[in-house]
Amino acid sequence: MATMFTRVCSRGLATSAARGSKVAVLGAAGGIGQPMSLLLKQAPAVSQLNLYDIVNTPGVAADLSHINSNAKVKSYQGSEQLDDALKGMDVVLIPAGVPRKPGMTRDDLFNTNASIVQTLAEACARSCPEAILGIIANPVNSTVPITVEAFKKHGVYNPNKIFGVTTLDVVRANCFVAELKGFDADSTLVPVVGGHAGKTIVPLISQSNPKAEFDQETLDALTHRIQFGGDEVVKAKDGAGSATLSMAFAGAKWAFSVLRALAGEAGVVECSYVESTITDAKYFSTPIQFNKDGMEKNLGLPSGITKFEEELIAAAVPELQASIKKGEEFAHK
Ligand code: NAD
Ligand code: LMR
Repeated sequence: MATMFTRVCSRGLATSAARGSKVAVLGAAGGIGQPMSLLLKQAPAVSQLNLYDIVNTPGVAADLSHINSNAKVKSYQGSEQLDDALKGMDVVLIPAGVPRKPGMTRDDLFNTNASIVQTLAEACARSCPEAILGIIANPVNSTVPITVEAFKKHGVYNPNKIFGVTTLDVVRANCFVAELKGFDADSTLVPVVGGHAGKTIVPLISQSNPKAEFDQETLDALTHRIQFGGDEVVKAKDGAGSATLSMAFAGAKWAFSVLRALAGEAGVVECSYVESTITDAKYFSTPIQFNKDGMEKNLGLPSGITKFEEELIAAAVPELQASIKKGEEFAHK
């Protein structure tokens, strides 16, 4: 399985096989939304790019629309235009919501972002129930359950189509392992499972390709850096937000994999946070194999993970369960 993950994921932003899908970005004028939309605009895989935000969308759309690539860019602003932005979409990416400031956890964003995501999820359930959704807004561990509950409420939930985007954790793990070992960063692959917050982020460094071995002290420090990489950026930005450019790269990487699968490429795999029976947590990120209908197969946990990694997973599950419960209770209020 690790072989499958590392073989199929070994490309940066490859899109060449895929053409002609319709993608919407909700929160398109934000710190992630703008650079991610730029990456999507230049991709042959995208024929239409619908940009939605509550502010500044026309300017972002006008700017991107001058780029001589084939994707047609359309601007939608304000809740009265939300459903129109979503009709006919194949893929919807949701980076709408507030980012962290130093000293905050992702869960501290819950009170603001839960209702933003719920409103957007309800609109997706109404207007593009067949689309594949990638939830980026934090706290992902809770916003994905909120989205699922909105789809269930509308009677349109398909567990193969709603995902939390945890690709930034994989991107960081690839980058940090490659740096330490002097590997080619572009072709280093480290699966990351669990959730997307602190100790719920579980890098499976034993499954790295190329293989990477570390003494326990280095492994502890590396694992901690991957788990808390988001804090490193929040601290460096000093009040001006959290990761935007690396997240735009990660979001585009995830979307391009989905688009290649939609276009018929076989065996495309990305770690994603989904409803799951792999552990006692109801949602859990593992390598997911995609096809034209979304998730084809949950590849689960690789065989051969270490005792250290099993302990990290066991430590992740209770926090995940609490965040999932919080999201579901919010949705049922
Ligand atoms: P930002 O503040 O720069 O941009 C957010 C955008 O969302 C703004 O343009 C804002 O107008 C828009 N928005 C707010 N309410 C909206 C609504 N109801 N409908 C549509 N758009 C709305 O923030 P950012 O840095 O782009 O981060 C966005 C979110 O992504 C945050 O919650 C952040 O924590 C999260 N994030 C997740 C990951 C991940 O790995 N999944 C990585 C980085 C950031
Ligand atoms: C990240 O991992 O960088 C994001 O989830 C943003 C954050 O709040 O750290």
